[in-house]
Amino acid sequence: MTTTTPDQWIRDLFSDRANRTGPGMVALDPKDSAKIIAFGGGYPDADSLPIQDIAESTRIALERDGEWALQYAFGTGVPELVDTLLDKLRRDQGIEATRENVLITNGASQALGLIFEAFVDPGDVIISEAPFFLGTVHRCRASGADVREIPLDDEGLDVAALESTLNELKAEGKQAKFLYLVPNFQNPTGITYSPERREAILNLCKAHGVPVLEDDAYYDLRFEGDAVPTFYGLADEPGQVMYCGTFSKIIGAGMRLGWVVAHPTVIAHLSGLKTDAGTPAFASHVVAEFTGSGTLAEHIGTLKDVYRHRRDVMLAELEAKLPDGCSWTRPTGGFFIWLTLPEGLDCADVAAACVEQGLQIGIGKNFFTTGKGAENIRLAYSFNDDEEIERGVDILATVIRDQLDSARN
Ligand SMILES: Cc1ncc(COP(=O)(O)O)c(C=O)c1O
Repeated sequence: MTTTTPDQWIRDLFSDRANRTGPGMVALDPKDSAKIIAFGGGYPDADSLPIQDIAESTRIALERDGEWALQYAFGTGVPELVDTLLDKLRRDQGIEATRENVLITNGASQALGLIFEAFVDPGDVIISEAPFFLGTVHRCRASGADVREIPLDDEGLDVAALESTLNELKAEGKQAKFLYLVPNFQNPTGITYSPERREAILNLCKAHGVPVLEDDAYYDLRFEGDAVPTFYGLADEPGQVMYCGTFSKIIGAGMRLGWVVAHPTVIAHLSGLKTDAGTPAFASHVVAEFTGSGTLAEHIGTLKDVYRHRRDVMLAELEAKLPDGCSWTRPTGGFFIWLTLPEGLDCADVAAACVEQGLQIGIGKNFFTTGKGAENIRLAYSFNDDEEIERGVDILATVIRDQLDSARN
């Protein structure tokens, strides 16, 4: 007779991958995020979601393509969406590509997941900027990757550290599968890679035969300065860069639409691993209409005004309220500010005290695989209005002061 509980019995049957990943969020109501001040997540602003325009695009898409919008869409993406995306990438990002270079995915999250599946077996090396996007941190864990983290400064990842990591790997006889980075308004720090840094990274990666995985989720949300060329556009060899993007931040995360632009051989294999019977045709037809009609370009202009204003409010609040010893980044686009706490404070303690007062913040340690980041916090200004940002920074400033006082006494 077995003595194990049903829970243990089923756990014993899990794959190594499920055990590495661990349990996820269960029975969560997304609406709960509206009950707190949510500086922790990267939620887009609710009031600027283009609900009326999407209703109109849906009506047009159903009248024109209803039969196909409600049908399976096997393959690499609904052609109408692929073509409008290719036009957008050429016009806005300066990326020249064709249909064979594109896979439309269930958000950029799925694009990143497929790339990990295609390239990373347990023990394989990947290189990443650090701190880095939480979703990719999870992918690293789930895949069992051997992650080599490269620190960031205001202009991107540290090229000297990258070079010495590449040389170390060579000496160990190991080949990194790719270098992961978010070059614009990086998540979580808000920094943007300079053109010089991009060139230097690309050259080093090329010399060592390491592809770049460029996750450009925030490209369109630039508030200041000129756009910087993408790694994909700078590369002179096909296959050197895999470029991921998303409609989540510029239309609606609920659409669950993202993409990869890469060499046709990579696209074909990602498509082989994508066993979900197709990225939703319904959302694809709606977004093709919304994007192709010119509504997207106009909408991005509105979003930039909203997020620029929120960044300004949060920066002014931090300046006015935080005690000496705190420092933070000043993003020129995107959603995030990265805060460094005064010495001796721990982000987990600060986060716990903030939650008690209705403020959620991003815990720095979660953005590394190595346990670094204890002195850091990610603050998203994207989701809350002016009054909530003011209230949230009040709470944060009070908690930091209180914890500083306790640390000194
Ligand atoms: C850097 C980065 N990459 C990818 C994603 C995933 O986006 P999606 O909603 O398209 O899955 C996000 C979302 O927060 C992100 O910040």
